[in-house]
Amino acid sequence: RRTAILISGRGSNMEALVAAARDPGFPAEICLVLSNRPEAGGLDTARAAGIRAEAIDHRAYGRDRATHEAAIDAALRSADIEIVCLAGYMRLLTPFLVGAWQGRMLNIHPSLLPCFPGLHTHARALEAGVKLHGCTVHLVTSEMDAGPILAQAAVPVLAGDTEDDLAERVLRQEHLVYPAALAAVAAGLPAAAPEPAAALANPL
Ligand code: GRF
Repeated sequence: RRTAILISGRGSNMEALVAAARDPGFPAEICLVLSNRPEAGGLDTARAAGIRAEAIDHRAYGRDRATHEAAIDAALRSADIEIVCLAGYMRLLTPFLVGAWQGRMLNIHPSLLPCFPGLHTHARALEAGVKLHGCTVHLVTSEMDAGPILAQAAVPVLAGDTEDDLAERVLRQEHLVYPAALAAVAAGLPAAAPEPAAALANPL
């Protein structure tokens, strides 16, 4: 399955997906990495791994989310992408892109959803005093961090943990659980690629 990864920063989850997909038996192939930020370190990491990596800078589109998303969608379709993995992609998506990739767009979130959707999850977990924390891979729906859960991994919160300690412990699990969830989705998808939104609007 031809898979793209959307990033905004360092891209360690992207690297984990790329590493897993090197196994010839892995059911997804990482064909494209896109970033909304040209300075994202993950772009260079992807290129060094021989993967096409491009920035589609949201700042070039001003406040116009729709045209930025249309550019992303066009890049995905021109690369014949079938599955999209958000990995530290820090832009909220509109129903346009979410709808176009429904069932084929995954996200990783650094908490045990439905606890702590949104930002600063590790600080909030420490503040709440939870004893278990973790990460979740889910399908993307138009409600942020709320789509059907595909996989989770839990870690203990230990006495004296700092936010960085907890982030690091969770991140190690993210790197295991995301490839596993992608493999499950890629292996279970129906054969046909999604139709472009424009084609769906055209009656035969
Ligand atoms: C990860 O913790 C991910 O769960 C969150 O943002 C972080 C991205 O890290 N959404 P990286 O860019 O994959 O290293």
